[in-house]
Amino acid sequence: MLAGKRILLIIGGGIAAYKSLELIRLFAKAGAKVVPVLTKAGAEFVTPLSVSALAGTKVYTDLFDLTDEAEMGHIQLSRAADLVVVAPATADLMGKMATGRADDLASTLLLATDKRVMIAPAMNVRMWLHPATQRNLATLQGDGILTVGPNDGDMACGEFGPGRMAEPAQILAAATAALTSGPLFGKHVLVTSGPTHEPIDPVRYIANRSSGAQGAALAAALRDLGARVSFVTGPASVPPPAGVDVIRVETARQMLAAVLAALPADAAVMAAAVADWRVANEAGQKMKKDGSGRAPGLEFAENPDILATVSHSPDRPRLVVGFAAETETVVQHATAKRARKGCDWIVANDVSPGTGIMGGDENAVTLISEAGAEDWPRMSKDEVARRLAGRIAEALQ
Ligand code: CTP
Repeated sequence: MLAGKRILLIIGGGIAAYKSLELIRLFAKAGAKVVPVLTKAGAEFVTPLSVSALAGTKVYTDLFDLTDEAEMGHIQLSRAADLVVVAPATADLMGKMATGRADDLASTLLLATDKRVMIAPAMNVRMWLHPATQRNLATLQGDGILTVGPNDGDMACGEFGPGRMAEPAQILAAATAALTSGPLFGKHVLVTSGPTHEPIDPVRYIANRSSGAQGAALAAALRDLGARVSFVTGPASVPPPAGVDVIRVETARQMLAAVLAALPADAAVMAAAVADWRVANEAGQKMKKDGSGRAPGLEFAENPDILATVSHSPDRPRLVVGFAAETETVVQHATAKRARKGCDWIVANDVSPGTGIMGGDENAVTLISEAGAEDWPRMSKDEVARRLAGRIAEALQ
């Protein structure tokens, strides 16, 4: 079920750590390769030897172990996994994660990873119910971290209530669902996002106000439905979501090359605000004032249209979706754009300054397809992303 999947398992310091030994066994039985990391406190409850014997591999414990840094740096260790599972996730580890502390190997890996993270909290009832822990939990969930458990029950400390770590079989099921389920499981979706930067000279460029928020939200929503997402992004201010393949570019021409290299895909969603023009007379050196008071003249050349190129490519994805940023007669312009670009759907939005959409958290879109124009109410960009991902999943069934 999990054949070929790599799980980075971080074992925190709690009595439930003994259950993590069983979890390693279950992951291995399901075909996954477990790379274990044991915190200093975790090693008070289970020994490195038993962990590594069950995982059939070395257990990582110390950030400053130079041999490990030579073999595999902590950044690489944090990235070479399909899923990071923290079990047990103690109140202390959750606090570190919520505040971004990185003072040991486990917390550093958790801060450095670009993969999805699932925590299985385990602690005393009072500690779990404490507002500080609940605040940290809300922060972590807001960051897209998955949780499994805790369960209610008798606890090792003699109290009763929520705080018991989820059973290993439950953690295995949640991890399997995160890695292998959803209506888009087995599908590859390409997403472009963010602005492009078009150089004028080595230090100056032309850009636009796109934050990349809608593209990032879309990539996360497609990932959550199980898709493998290739996320080709210009220099956006919103960071890319975890658990997607990120390809960073600067210019429109680089974006086109990256997009074509990422094909074939089942669907492509072009949310990038690609610059229509680049500077044709880009200077090789920083342009200097010449003392005459004359401003330099910039010449422009048209950039390739990535959406149109993909729509007409022999490798065309089954579903090609474009966005249309308009400031007037939105539906009319967007309908014409759909025909011109040869895509299946256009998600049109009004980006006039008064709407606060470009760079904001909300979007009000009209979905234009062969069937006509469908107005969606104004909602958060996350909600637009979830709805659109759902529609993409339906279309690819
Ligand atoms: N797009 C693209 N490559 C370009 C320009 C735009 O792939 N060189 C894509 C965008 O990602 C978006 C769609 O085309 O999905 C429409 O972008 P938009 O800026 O609204 O349209 P333009 O092509 O720039 O058309 P116009 O200038 O007429 O508004």
